[in-house]
Amino acid sequence: MKTVGVFDSGVGGLSVLRALLAELPGVRFVYVADSAYAPYGERTVSEIADRSERITAWLRNTHHIDALVVACNTATALAIDSLRATHPDLPIVGVEPALKPAAATSHTRHIGVLATRGTLNSERFARLRTQLENTASSPVHFICQPCDGLADAIERDDLPAQQTLCERYVAALREHAPGDMDTVVLGCTHYPFAADALAQLLGPDVALVDTGEAVARRTRDVLNMSDPKGTNATPPVLLSTGDPAALSLAAQRWLDLPTRAAKLMV
Ligand code: DGL
Repeated sequence: MKTVGVFDSGVGGLSVLRALLAELPGVRFVYVADSAYAPYGERTVSEIADRSERITAWLRNTHHIDALVVACNTATALAIDSLRATHPDLPIVGVEPALKPAAATSHTRHIGVLATRGTLNSERFARLRTQLENTASSPVHFICQPCDGLADAIERDDLPAQQTLCERYVAALREHAPGDMDTVVLGCTHYPFAADALAQLLGPDVALVDTGEAVARRTRDVLNMSDPKGTNATPPVLLSTGDPAALSLAAQRWLDLPTRAAKLMV
């Protein structure tokens, strides 16, 4: 049985784990929520690189993982290159905001992007954006909105704060969009858990796009599992550097997973 390590700054990566469990039955997943250090979105590059390296080394030494999924846009943007340099023998799959699928399907060519400040300010994101602006079949406009505090409000399960922040950031997107937006990219793995509030505010004509399924397919490819068999007989191992009860609750509520999370000191 293959083992895949998955980590995020907190509970957000569960949105990716949900897609991984559906795509890869029979794989054993070890999920680390780095909640003691969340949110990553407003941390420095060296802090995020250090946390990513510690967690990856621990997953390798303790669980002998066959692959790693960085289920965090911010850690992918700021730390995946250094992780790949330190672990050249480990297949590593990252998550980036779904600009490409959004550009492929948008009719109005005005696409909102909600993500952390760290992701939007990264060179990796700038490259992705410029590449698409220069190569898309017809001109495309990305309206990028940093969502300070939103991942943290989801992490804390603070619904009133989530609602207030969603209202603020949707209003900002509308104010800055030069035309009708028909697509909004959820560029942080926490945001699918605020999708209902965002969809309500954006209305039925705006599609929300995230990357969970694409990441799960890519992980299947790097594991060389063309026809994965099994029925998730092994429940995922859930670990949190913060409060394991909060991770257990999120996994129960969003993924219907009865697994109790444990505390991880790393
Ligand atoms: N879930 C993470 C992401 O995809 C990070 C959110 C945060 O910790 O700021 O960017």
